[in-house]
Amino acid sequence: MQLTSEEEAMLAGEHGEGIQKAMEIIVALGKIYGAERLVPVTSVQVAGVSYKNLGDAGIEFLEEWANAGGKVKVPTTLNPAGMDLDDWKEIGFDPRFAEKQLKVISAFQKMGIPPTCTCTPYLAGNIPKFGDHIAWAESSAVSYANSVIGARTNREGGPSAIAAAIVGRTAEFGYHLDENRMPKAWISVETELGGFSDFGTLGYWMGKQLGNKVSWITGINRATNDELKELGASGAASGGIALYHVDEITPEGRIYSKTCQKERLEKFVFTEREKREVYETIGQGSTEIDLVVFGCPHASLEEVKEIAMAVKNKQLKANLWITTSKPVKEIAKRMGLNRIIEDAGGRILSDMCAVVSPIKNFGFKSIAVNSGKYAWYLANQGFNIRMGKTSDCIEAAITGRWEK
Ligand code: F3S
Repeated sequence: MQLTSEEEAMLAGEHGEGIQKAMEIIVALGKIYGAERLVPVTSVQVAGVSYKNLGDAGIEFLEEWANAGGKVKVPTTLNPAGMDLDDWKEIGFDPRFAEKQLKVISAFQKMGIPPTCTCTPYLAGNIPKFGDHIAWAESSAVSYANSVIGARTNREGGPSAIAAAIVGRTAEFGYHLDENRMPKAWISVETELGGFSDFGTLGYWMGKQLGNKVSWITGINRATNDELKELGASGAASGGIALYHVDEITPEGRIYSKTCQKERLEKFVFTEREKREVYETIGQGSTEIDLVVFGCPHASLEEVKEIAMAVKNKQLKANLWITTSKPVKEIAKRMGLNRIIEDAGGRILSDMCAVVSPIKNFGFKSIAVNSGKYAWYLANQGFNIRMGKTSDCIEAAITGRWEK
């Protein structure tokens, strides 16, 4: 691998121990994946922020790196933590967990990373441009950045994303290269996709069929950013989808619609039957629902507004949580949406998500979701899961039952 003289100096430890350690990780990965050189990155998203996943060993690892002079060089954001950083006490998180979680956050802050704590950094100021090389770790955000924005990132691990932020570079392999962004499979959608969760069923099914193959999707006439966010997130969870192209909708999808010979690609067909099967496969849980959780990936303001309007003047029997970023929560507060949701018995939680938070401690057993990614991970954690449209989930929150 070709390194510049500055990169060689970093690797030799001439810029300090923290930078040397970062460069060792980047170079080692580059060698494993056959990269010829490093490329500068314009932004980094770090995953592995919850104390639930990191444990004490993770805190030690981060503190050591921070103390060795590991400081980020490029704009960097953090994935969700294990709790709402401001309202954790009121929500009922264990103070011992909170103390450890805050230690994790301060180690990241010592590295120069602000505690953004969201998996939708592109809704909170970390917005790459088309063609930018970036190093993001959160799988749903990777899928969004590659597919919807047309930036270029591999799915980084926690340490490799931090390393990229510290040296401002990543190794050029995988989705940084044109040849790996070409579609390898053609998905023909031959049914109506009626909103957020239907896009989730397509993503969920796509990940199961394709693993991590890049797809070219036809048959979708319109899609909101939230729907595309959900499509990629579900595909990343059930398979490992890091890049998909939607004919005439996503930026590279528009390019491939002119150049791609879809007949040469392996063809998959998604019909009403496949859509229904995904809902049915996931919907094996109990009919009693004790938590309805929205916001995977983190809810946009539009989603919070939709839910607030649906629960206005209602009294909920099940708990209702909306997980989102701090900026969305604050704006929702200014708009009075939090009041509407709280009056119904629900709440907006920022900085965290149900998957990386210790929600078993709250006694929840049966959870209803509108997201394929929440469904995938929460089912893997042993919860009874029901997945349906946003309106089905609202109904479950009102009645405390899944009666679809
Ligand atoms: Fe985000 Fe958590 Fe879902 S990190 S994508 S809300 S599982």
